Amino acid sequence: MSKTVNLEELKQHTSKDKLWLLVSGKIYDVTNFIDEHPGGDEVMLAEAGKDATEAFEDVGHSDEARAMMPAMLVGDFGSLDLKNTAKSAVSGNPPEFEGAVQTGSNVMYFIPLSLLVAYFAWRFYSSS
Ligand code: HEM
Repeated sequence: MSKTVNLEELKQHTSKDKLWLLVSGKIYDVTNFIDEHPGGDEVMLAEAGKDATEAFEDVGHSDEARAMMPAMLVGDFGSLDLKNTAKSAVSGNPPEFEGAVQTGSNVMYFIPLSLLVAYFAWRFYSSS
């Protein structure tokens, strides 16, 4: 029985009395653990609503720490959302997924196109 959590749900659990963390593509409910966390509550709250994997791994958590995590597991994080999470902070604007993808592909067309235009402009001016 595996639940899939999306970014919307992750962002609804960003307070001390309702905190979920995203680590390595999985969602953990750390609400009952936050006061016991040896690293303190602030570092955990700072990772709320976004991908906490890097922060978690940078600390070099022990096997004991990792062994606690299955008990806190809520489910998997929606894979589509994962790409956009790193960029969006907790209090930021709601991520515009379609917008982000659209902008990305526009830029991909724009750069080679403008190079092409520049090339023909250069040819035109250097031959006249
Ligand atoms: C489910 C998630 C987490 C669990 C179960 C967890 C558990 C633990 C445990 C057991 C320790 C003690 C040292 C060890 O055994 O490695 C620890 C230390 C620490 N954790 Fe976490 N942690 C989690 C998430 C995070 C996150 C997201 C951060 C963000 C930066 C963080 C930052 C720290 C820090 C800085 C320490 C070091 C405390 C010290 O040595 O003074 N932890 N954590």
